[in-house]
Amino acid sequence: MSLSTMSREELEALSHEINTRYEDFKGKNLSLDLTRGKPSAQQLDLSNGLLSLLGEGSTTDVDGTDARNYGNLAGLKSIRTIWADILGVPVEEIIAENNASLEIMHYVLTFAMLHGLPSSPQPWVKENTLKWLCPVPGYDRHFSITETLGFEMIQVPMNEDGPDADAIADLVANDPSIKGMWLVPVFANPDGTVTSREVAEKLVSMPTAASDFTIMWDNAYGIHTLTDEFPEILPIVKMAADAGHPDRVFQLTSSSKITFAGAGVSFLNTSSTNLDWYKKYLGIATIGPNKISQLAHVRFFGNADGVKAHMLKHKDILAPKFAAVEKILAERLGEYDVATWTEPKGGYFISLDVVPGTAKRVVALAAEAGIKLTNAGSAYPKGEDPKETNIRLAPSLPPLEEITVAMDGVATCVLKAALEKALAA
Ligand SMILES: Cc1ncc(COP(=O)(O)O)c(C=O)c1O
Repeated sequence: MSLSTMSREELEALSHEINTRYEDFKGKNLSLDLTRGKPSAQQLDLSNGLLSLLGEGSTTDVDGTDARNYGNLAGLKSIRTIWADILGVPVEEIIAENNASLEIMHYVLTFAMLHGLPSSPQPWVKENTLKWLCPVPGYDRHFSITETLGFEMIQVPMNEDGPDADAIADLVANDPSIKGMWLVPVFANPDGTVTSREVAEKLVSMPTAASDFTIMWDNAYGIHTLTDEFPEILPIVKMAADAGHPDRVFQLTSSSKITFAGAGVSFLNTSSTNLDWYKKYLGIATIGPNKISQLAHVRFFGNADGVKAHMLKHKDILAPKFAAVEKILAERLGEYDVATWTEPKGGYFISLDVVPGTAKRVVALAAEAGIKLTNAGSAYPKGEDPKETNIRLAPSLPPLEEITVAMDGVATCVLKAALEKALAA
């Protein structure tokens, strides 16, 4: 029964019922948080073995590097070998750094601003206008980087098979000020989209007016499955090289949501030309990464299969939480046609679209009832969702019981906001 087909009396009756339910809910004085995609304590516990590993063995890596000392800007060969295997790339084309891949992304763009990329005619700061393509909905911290560096951010839609590659090809063909784009190719934040090989082929092969057009291929969730299957990881740097654009792609990933988000290892995979360029400037900022943590990860996992086996333990914890959110949304909202939501096969988020123009009201109602949701619009550059419809749900952190309670409340808020709008019309 869609709200739009209900009579005013029916809407008022339902509104009365939902308002009572909302007030009851508020009376529970809850304090629940569905804002950020952090691993739960139970997930972090899966990796506690890392903490004691090095005390029991040598601190020397297979290639003779003493992990305790300065140096080795590219990171330990043994950890690079494991992640090269996971990504299906040559070990020469991957480096291992500190805990945050976001830091690498920030560095790449900052170095490009100050010095230009290998294929740039000049440092980007010298350009009059800088533009960046942002598939939406997307990751707020990506948008913060390009906003802070002064880019004009152009929204492009995410389709079911990835970003709208035809729209992107049209935009980049004639505008040299478009320097690049963000993309989370697998289990995207927040809608769970997996970019197809066909879309990826278009992105790496399309002609661009900028000689230094760059794809920030942020593969943060490449192996973060919620099923027993792992998605295909496209050899994107090779695909770009085969298409005649060897330096177009910077691929990122990290162990943040595999082991410890604050004490893991991040990775950059790109062409040798780009890696040499990156290391030249990185080497001014640091003498080398935290190799103790890298060595502990090598000993903990052993090889790529060890990492994947570990991901299935995360799946066992996460999948029931996602299932609970989807079940409650379907039970509470399914019949009213007031929302749609994604049912991702991996990653950390569910993207919820409520009645256009009510997302902020839903978040405010939830906050009043003690449930923190990510700010409405956070998945859009500058927080500006043109339809004011999108809310990102992050079910990973709270325990299952809390998620069930919180989502029942969120569903009530979605309905309440939709009814308020329908009755005001
Ligand atoms: C798409 C995406 N990229 C990167 C990150 C952060 O990665 P890291 O911890 O390696 O900086 C996140 C964290 O939520 C993310 O969702």
